[in-house]
Amino acid sequence: MDGDVAIVLAAGRGERMDTTIPKALMPFRGTTIVARAVELASAASESIVVVAPPGWEAEVDRAVGKLGVDAIVAGGETRQASVRAGLAAVAADVDRILCHDAARPLASPALFTRALEALEGWDGVVPVLRVVDTVKRVQDGRIEGTEPRDALALAQTPQAFTSAALREAHERAAADGFEGSDDALLLERIGYRVRAIEGERTNLKITTAEDLRLAEALAR
Ligand code: CTP
Ligand code: MG
Repeated sequence: MDGDVAIVLAAGRGERMDTTIPKALMPFRGTTIVARAVELASAASESIVVVAPPGWEAEVDRAVGKLGVDAIVAGGETRQASVRAGLAAVAADVDRILCHDAARPLASPALFTRALEALEGWDGVVPVLRVVDTVKRVQDGRIEGTEPRDALALAQTPQAFTSAALREAHERAAADGFEGSDDALLLERIGYRVRAIEGERTNLKITTAEDLRLAEALAR
C-alpha cells in the first residue's frame, strides 16, 4: 500500500431502507451504492479498503471488483467496529486515512482532496454543513425548547485523519468501552485537534428509500 488509504464503510444492514439486501449493494445509477462510493474515493487515494457486511464479501467483491480495491474485509456489529476491521487491513506505514460512508455516494471527488489537503497541521478533518433550520428539542410530540444554532453543524464524510491519531482514538475508545457515531468524535474526546471544512449540500446520506430516490434525482 502506497500513499493515502480510504476505508469505505459498507457493512451496515440498512434497516431503515427496508430491503433484503444490504443498503450498500442496492442499485444506484447503473451501478451500486458501494461501487459509486469506491469510485469517488479512488480519485483521491491510492489504496482502498472496503468493509462489507459479514457474509456478503463475495457480493461486494463482485460489485467493486473491477475498481481495483486493495482489500475487502468483513465489518462488525457497529460502524465503529467496522472501521476497526478496516483499520486492521491498512498497512502500518500509511500516513493518512480517509473514512467514508458508502451511504454517501454523492460526495464529490474534490471533497476527498480538500479533506486531505486541510489535514496539514491537524489530526483530523470533518466536512460540515452549518445548520440553517431552527433547531427544536422535541419529546413525545411536544416542543420542549429551541437550541441556539450558531455553533451547530452537521458532520459528513469523507473524514480525513493522520493514521497515528485514528488508530490511537479507536484503541482508546475500545479500551474505554466508548461507542461514537463517527470517527472524529473518538479523536475529539481524547483531545486531538479536529478541523471543520465546508461540506456539500448534495452529499446526502442515504438512509431511507426516499433518500435513494432523492439521490438518484440529484445525480441526474
Ligand atoms: N456501517 C458499517 N458497519 C456497521 C454499521 C454501519 O460499515 N455495523 C456503515 C454503513 O454501511 C453506512 C455508514 O456506516 O455506509 C453509515 O451508517 P448508516 O447510514 O446508519 O447505515 P446502516 O447502518 O446500514 O443503516 P441502518 O442504520 O438503517 O441499519
Ligand atoms: Mg446504522
